[in-house]
Amino acid sequence: MNISLILAAVALVPQPAKLVETGGVTKNAEIRYVTDATVPAEGYRLKVAADGITVTSSDAAGRFYAGITLAQLKDGKAWPCVEIEDAPAYRWRGAHLDECRHFFGKETVKQMLDLMAQHKLNRFHWHLTEDQGWRLDIPGYPELVKYGAVRSASVRHGQRATKGSNEDADKLNGVKYGPYFYTEADIREIVAYAAERHITIVPEIELPGHVFAALAAYPEFACVPANMASREPRLVWGIEKDVLCLGNDKAIKFMEDVLDYVCRLFPGDVVHIGGDECPQVRWKDCPKCQARIKAEGLKDEHGLQPWITRHFVKFLEARGKRALGWDEYLLGDVPKSAIGMSWRTRRQGAGHELVSGAQAAVRGHDVVMTPNKFCYLDYGQCLPNDPFQYIGGKLPLEMCYSFDPCADVPAEARAHILGGQCNNWSEYTWNEYDLAWKVWPRTCALAEVFWLGDAKPGFADFKKRMATHRGRLIAQGVNCAPLE
Ligand code: ACM
Ligand code: ZN
Repeated sequence: MNISLILAAVALVPQPAKLVETGGVTKNAEIRYVTDATVPAEGYRLKVAADGITVTSSDAAGRFYAGITLAQLKDGKAWPCVEIEDAPAYRWRGAHLDECRHFFGKETVKQMLDLMAQHKLNRFHWHLTEDQGWRLDIPGYPELVKYGAVRSASVRHGQRATKGSNEDADKLNGVKYGPYFYTEADIREIVAYAAERHITIVPEIELPGHVFAALAAYPEFACVPANMASREPRLVWGIEKDVLCLGNDKAIKFMEDVLDYVCRLFPGDVVHIGGDECPQVRWKDCPKCQARIKAEGLKDEHGLQPWITRHFVKFLEARGKRALGWDEYLLGDVPKSAIGMSWRTRRQGAGHELVSGAQAAVRGHDVVMTPNKFCYLDYGQCLPNDPFQYIGGKLPLEMCYSFDPCADVPAEARAHILGGQCNNWSEYTWNEYDLAWKVWPRTCALAEVFWLGDAKPGFADFKKRMATHRGRLIAQGVNCAPLE
């Protein structure tokens, strides 16, 4: 093999922090594993030489990632001789999936986990409950999946509808969707599958907004039960005004039961409790919610969301978990142990004040950076002749690569930035082919950002490696979009 071929083969994504080609190739596949406590968490040293391969790490994740790098290095039956010293810049390297607007199922989730591992991503944020669908069977609450996991119609392909089922009725397709949900056995299988790939699952149970599917199952947990007369999830996209009645102890006990089960089912250290886009109009007019405001000494309905956030941060802490939520849930007086997920860079959504990722970090919250401008893969890729529909916005591959999770964060608060995450909302994503097209290759770019941080080598270098790496994805049957 001549040297140019060797160099062509070294197309690693993400690029390792330090890589030296030492010349020649080897077919000696003997691997020696060494443990060295000085290697950083999830990091590894890898030496590929004529006399074999040596992997040095301090933990099992580092050893696993060395294997991922070795698989990408392999060219036919040989490896180029290299010395690599590698460790991640960020400890939270996530990908999210909304299975509520559209449901993808176990096999697609497993493929996503496989591909995440190949890009050294370590957190799968699983969005399991929404206005448009409840996807998790909960013991003691059989109505949840009976009513919450099935819709009589969805927004028709190619249409947009966000106002209300009545106003947007002409945009609905009349096709029954579901029931689609996961059983306890499914979850256990996927949790184990993720763990084998050094991925922690972060389940999300939305509250106090985005709960319409649960209210369809249990109308008594709404401020206005009569609004749930259709007994089915919201059929159109957009922001729903009917939210959890925070004046009703039974509604709160319901969420406690759900989260208690979720804490037992998912072994990870973090549970996401939503918190985004929660309108307060129902609370304003609800006698029970107003009674709660009085009893708790809150000023008005603006105090209810921080009140419920405090409650569930403590509830999760008592079960050994940390709470994570979208940035709005950090408004008001909430414990510093609450982790923020920063999705906005400007005020948008249900009209809440913006709590920027930088502000949250300065206040002392740990933060996962997922600004829609850089991390929302349901935004358009700006490809010519793209056959798929997007929610809006523009997010070409180069923009993903330009993301810096610490860009606006003062130096003294940067230790609070845990990392970043690609978010895959599915209003306009219908199936696994559509999903893969939106996820890949943009997730490759973000994975390199999360792994290398400031040390990323630049978009031109990335794109050159991607020409080879995209072939690896295609060879696995992934419907990866073109690079431009
Ligand atoms: C969000 O995109 N509403 C978190
Ligand atoms: Zn109420």
